[in-house]
Amino acid sequence: MNERSSTQSPHDDERLVPVFERMVATLREQAWCVIPDALPHSLRDDLHSRLQQPDALHLRAAGIGRQQDHTLAPGIRSDAIAWITGSTPAEQAWLAWADALRQFLNRHLFMGLDSFESHFAHYGPGAFYARHLDAFRRAGVPAASTRRVSLVAYFNPHWLTEEGGELVLVDPQSGQEHRVLPELGTVALFLSDEVPHEVRVARRDRYSIAGWFRVRTGSVAL
Ligand code: OGA
Ligand code: MN
Repeated sequence: MNERSSTQSPHDDERLVPVFERMVATLREQAWCVIPDALPHSLRDDLHSRLQQPDALHLRAAGIGRQQDHTLAPGIRSDAIAWITGSTPAEQAWLAWADALRQFLNRHLFMGLDSFESHFAHYGPGAFYARHLDAFRRAGVPAASTRRVSLVAYFNPHWLTEEGGELVLVDPQSGQEHRVLPELGTVALFLSDEVPHEVRVARRDRYSIAGWFRVRTGSVAL
């Protein structure tokens, strides 16, 4: 991989740095970080427009587990998802932004993040995701790679507390819960195998992108 993504100019990279630096500084201290208004506005608005036509995304009921272990689990999660493949300019810009962040985390936290995967998610009224971890450090089944850092970005203007749908992050050190409103432009970043989290029942349509930076198994942990 090149140090700088080909789809971003050096100028773009410079504007990303303050947000990425805040993420790195916070992740040095704790296992999670939440930054309001973290996305470049053009990227945020393009993805928001894309989510205004949810039919075009072909969202499908999400399940749990991977590949042959994949099962629908409506008692655990009830969102609908569509994997991001880079099929539109907005998706490509998203993948370029995530790749710039991946390289920044590697450079400053020596995380050895190797790849990124992400999906759009829609939680309709009544939908939720029960408390879970995104990765298990000592999973019984060996895998080629594993999720190390989770990233969630939100696309819901003017979200109100009474509309529910908060992301609840549990700090692994203190056990304290931190509630995050899924407001347009907010980004949450956390260690996939350390931070239990859940999505509270949403009372209004709630759109997000959830993504994961992966390491090849055998890589040294943070
Ligand atoms: C997930 C997840 C959180 C959110 O998809 O694993 O925890 O706020 N999503 O959408
Ligand atoms: Mn999760």
